[in-house]
Amino acid sequence: MAKRPAAAVDGQDVKNAYARWAPVYELIASPTVPARKLAAKRVNAIGGRFLEAGVGSGSALSLYTRNVSLVGVDLSHDMLRIARKRAAAMPNVEAIIEMDLMQLAFPDGHFDGVICMFTITAVPDAKAVMAELARVTRPGGTVMIASHFEANSGPWKITDGILTPFAKRLGWNPSMPLNKVMGVPALTLVEQTPLPPAGLITLLVFERHD
Ligand SMILES: C[S@@+](CC[C@H](N)C(=O)[O-])C[C@H]1O[C@@H](n2cnc3c(N)ncnc32)[C@H](O)[C@@H]1O
Repeated sequence: MAKRPAAAVDGQDVKNAYARWAPVYELIASPTVPARKLAAKRVNAIGGRFLEAGVGSGSALSLYTRNVSLVGVDLSHDMLRIARKRAAAMPNVEAIIEMDLMQLAFPDGHFDGVICMFTITAVPDAKAVMAELARVTRPGGTVMIASHFEANSGPWKITDGILTPFAKRLGWNPSMPLNKVMGVPALTLVEQTPLPPAGLITLLVFERHD
């Protein structure tokens, strides 16, 4: 049977969906905590000024060490309200800003790196967002993506298939192919690592070049 493609998730879908998810998001997303910890550890090993793209409720903010300063951006007012409360007590968080990843209001090369977790599958055009993440990263900097991408076999292929028709309501595409984030000219993939639970999540590390 032909797979039904996911309907494109737009900004309004995201705002609506995360207004619903915000009160329960961290409970529902608890299986992704180990992956978030591993990704933050990688950011800490690099250090510098990082953009957390799709900071959500700020659940990763406490995982960064003091050698990392952060700007967090997100589209959902409801998720950001939680992130802002958290960030108030964190001196290494410079700002938490409502902003669309499709159009970042930062100059070129503004950050040493970008970390984007569980968000690239929620945007209307992943390649355009990757290009924006590359643009705001300095040459030699790092763009890290952690997300679940389309499963090609096993039980997750079935789960993805069940969830995909509800993409607009969920606020993300459960079966976005990984190749949607590839091919941005300024980014070279330097690492692809499966993360827990059970390799369901993929960490992609790109180097930004001129
Ligand atoms: C699954 S949550 C992940 C949040 C956080 N990164 C985490 O790991 O808990 C996805 C987040 O992406 C945000 N998002 C989706 N599309 C966006 C866009 N175009 N611009 C900015 N944020 C967006 C949503 O509002 C939501 O907070």
